[in-house]
Amino acid sequence: MASLGQIIFWGMIVMIFVAAGLIILILSVSFAVQGLGGSQGTVDSNNKWPIGNLGEDVILSCKFKTSTNSGESTSQVSITWKKKGLSEVVYRYNKGAVQLTEQNPQFKDRTQLFSDAIGGGNASMLLRNVKMKDEGVYYCSVNAPSGSGTDSVNLRVAAFSAPKFKWVNTTLTAEGERWFPKPDVLWLDVNDNVLNESETSFFNNSAGITRFISSLQQITLNDSYTCIIQNYLVKAVSRATVKGPVSTFRGKENSILY
Ligand SMILES: *[C@@H]1O[C@H](CO)[C@@H](O)[C@H](O)[C@H]1NC(C)=O
Ligand SMILES: *[C@@H]1O[C@H](CO)[C@@H](O)[C@H](O)[C@H]1NC(C)=O
Ligand SMILES: *[C@@H]1O[C@H](CO)[C@@H](O)[C@H](O)[C@H]1NC(C)=O
Ligand SMILES: *[C@@H]1O[C@H](CO)[C@@H](O)[C@H](O)[C@H]1NC(C)=O
Ligand SMILES: *[C@@H]1O[C@H](CO)[C@@H](O)[C@H](O)[C@H]1NC(C)=O
Repeated sequence: MASLGQIIFWGMIVMIFVAAGLIILILSVSFAVQGLGGSQGTVDSNNKWPIGNLGEDVILSCKFKTSTNSGESTSQVSITWKKKGLSEVVYRYNKGAVQLTEQNPQFKDRTQLFSDAIGGGNASMLLRNVKMKDEGVYYCSVNAPSGSGTDSVNLRVAAFSAPKFKWVNTTLTAEGERWFPKPDVLWLDVNDNVLNESETSFFNNSAGITRFISSLQQITLNDSYTCIIQNYLVKAVSRATVKGPVSTFRGKENSILY
């Protein structure tokens, strides 16, 4: 039989949980309000999961709220980009001046901010000539009159390129020059049915980049075929319409999604 004491005890536990719930609710609401007001959540990224294409450039997105609509004086803004696991900075901009004395050599001559846009709240960093070891988590920290904060950007590295089509007799081939990780290749007809009369050969180069040639047999003149090249990071969708004779063949509507 429960004594009166026990019942009160359990009642209090329940109340503490309810109160804790209310406190959490109130805290989260007030954080949200502060975020709008500008002292918290001033820094964030439009694209927290960018994908860099090996050897090309990528923008690591970061923006901050400015204290006035017309922007911020750059002499009052400091921006530091760091990478998880590295003690030295990736890039540092301190009150109008670039400070690269403590820059990790991995990023030498490969990084820059958009200096004309900093005053408008743009702390994004351009990273040139993306390399495999650039993959990882980056932190963008901003200190400005409107407040300070940090957001993270998780860069993944892939290699991808639109395929080149060729048509010989009744065979259509798609050649992918550089893919990483190794993709799957799939052909669809104009009604999006998967076509199984295809064969794909993969080749590795020394850097681990995959090249492939995929051929689709028994194609029909004037029909459209879609080649889908896909790994877990990138999906490329290309449509080829075969118009005889060979000289007027065109591959078109290349698009790369990620
Ligand atoms: C910052 O500026 C660059 C260059 O104009 C632009 O590509 C990028 O999208 C901008 N980023 C943000 C977050 O506004
Ligand atoms: C294409 O077809 C022509 C005539 O049927 C044949 O002579 C030629 O060898 C074929 N080419 C290929 C690459 O199969
Ligand atoms: C392709 O699909 C057709 C019908 O869906 C089937 O008859 C044929 O055996 C398949 N060919 C291969 C190589 O799987
Ligand atoms: C290509 O390299 C990948 C990983 O680096 C490996 O798994 C695959 O077996 C290689 N393929 C060929 C055809 O060498
Ligand atoms: C393909 O289309 C062209 C005109 O666009 C036409 O002249 C030709 O006869 C067509 N070929 C086939 C096999 O349907």
